[in-house]
Parts: sequence; structure tokens; C-alpha cells
Amino acid sequence: MNDTMTLSQRADALEEKMSRELDYIVIKSRLYSMAEGDMSPAPNAGALMAKNPNARVLMGDDPRLPPMPEKPTLIDFFKYRFGPAAHLLQSAKHAVNAGLPEKMVLACLLHDISTIGFIRGDHGYWGAQLVEPYVDEEVTWAIRAHQVLRFYPDESVGYDYPQSYIKAFGADYRPDPYIEDDYERMRNHKWYMSGRMITVHDIYSFDPNAVVELEEFTDVIGRNFRQPEQGLGFDNSPVAHTWRAMIRPAKYL
Ligand SMILES: [Fe+2]
Ligand SMILES: [Fe+2]
Repeated sequence: MNDTMTLSQRADALEEKMSRELDYIVIKSRLYSMAEGDMSPAPNAGALMAKNPNARVLMGDDPRLPPMPEKPTLIDFFKYRFGPAAHLLQSAKHAVNAGLPEKMVLACLLHDISTIGFIRGDHGYWGAQLVEPYVDEEVTWAIRAHQVLRFYPDESVGYDYPQSYIKAFGADYRPDPYIEDDYERMRNHKWYMSGRMITVHDIYSFDPNAVVELEEFTDVIGRNFRQPEQGLGFDNSPVAHTWRAMIRPAKYL
């Protein structure tokens, strides 16, 4: 590009250069577009390919993301797909310090994996579903329940409605009716206190200077998470495709 080009000539030249260099075309899932408030029709793969005949629509690994091993473990997801996991590591450490049983430490470690790796809304339900085939039933139940119980105080364990929610959602915010309904069901469940314990240890920072390493939980994971031999995403479990969606989030089909 030379200095005498106009701004729009520069932009055109850049776009052309990029399309020559990219040998793949990314077409976002509808969910991503809707999250941008974009209801326009999905981009036409054929038209995009016509502009860049050397490119192929992305069907394999996304070169923009860290590569994942062929048989990914839960720890690989923490390393290569989940966003910063400090909140989960700190929650799990908080649970260790409080003397919680190992499976509850695992529940605290995993309670927000959907928020940091998948989908935010209803993250407790998604997160529970992601791990269901691999953990004790109580862990799944507790992860699902934390989504709901976070909105309701429990004096018996010193859990108040979070101040941060008042700030974030407004003082007049009320949980959706399905959350209310689930709360009524969950509050009398035999595992209520397990779900509640996640909310108690669901802290944003017990010590802002504390650095908790994932390696501290290798053994807890090893003993309490049934890592499938074929790797998460490839074990033919009912949620395998969900893990694959995180491995290749922009796969065309
Ligand atoms: Fe959460
Ligand atoms: Fe959390």
C-alpha cells in the first residue's frame, strides 16, 4: 500500500489482501448474531466463496483458537477454552479451606464452566448438563441449583442476596417465574444444602492477591471426574456434541 491512496482505497486494498490470505471462511451461528442484536439472514457461503475462490468454509479446527489435543480432558478445556478461571479456582479453594468434601470442592470448581466457556444465560443448567455423565449426581444437582439459589438468601448459613445483583440488575429485579418454581422445588430437596454450599463459596475474591493454580485440583478432578478415555466430545455421551461445540465453536455444519 502506498501513501497516496485514499482512506477507502486503503480499506479496499486491505480487505482484498485479507481475503487472499485467509484460506477459510467463518460463518457465525445464529446465536452469536442474535447476541449482537443482528436478525439479518445468515451470510451466504456461496457468495463469500465467489469473492475468495481459494477459501473453504470452516469445517475443522479454527486457526484463530488454541489447538486442542485429540482426546481433550477437563483440564485441557480449562487451559485452552475456558476464559480466565480465577473465580472458579478461588471458589474451590474457599471450599477446601472450609473443609468441604471433595465432591463439593469439584462442584465449586465447575459451577460456572458454562459462563466461562459456553453460554451465560441459564449457565447453571447448561453447566450441570455438560458434566452430568462424568460426576456424581449430587454434583450435577448442586451446579444446577446454584443458578437458582443465588437469588434467595439463607440466614442459616449467612448467605445474603448479593449486593452486586442489586447493582447489576436493579433493586426491583425479580427472578423469572421458572427460577421461582425451581426454588420452591429445590429448597425442600435432600441435596438443598449442597447447592447452597456452592452459593456460599461462590465468592469473587477471598483474597485478591491469592493465586490459585489449577494443578492444586488435579487429584480432586482425577478422583471425582470420570474423564472419558476417548476425550470430552468424542465419547458418544448425550452431551458430547456440547463439548465439541466449544472445541470448534464456528464449525459451519
Ligand atoms: Fe454461577
Ligand atoms: Fe460463581
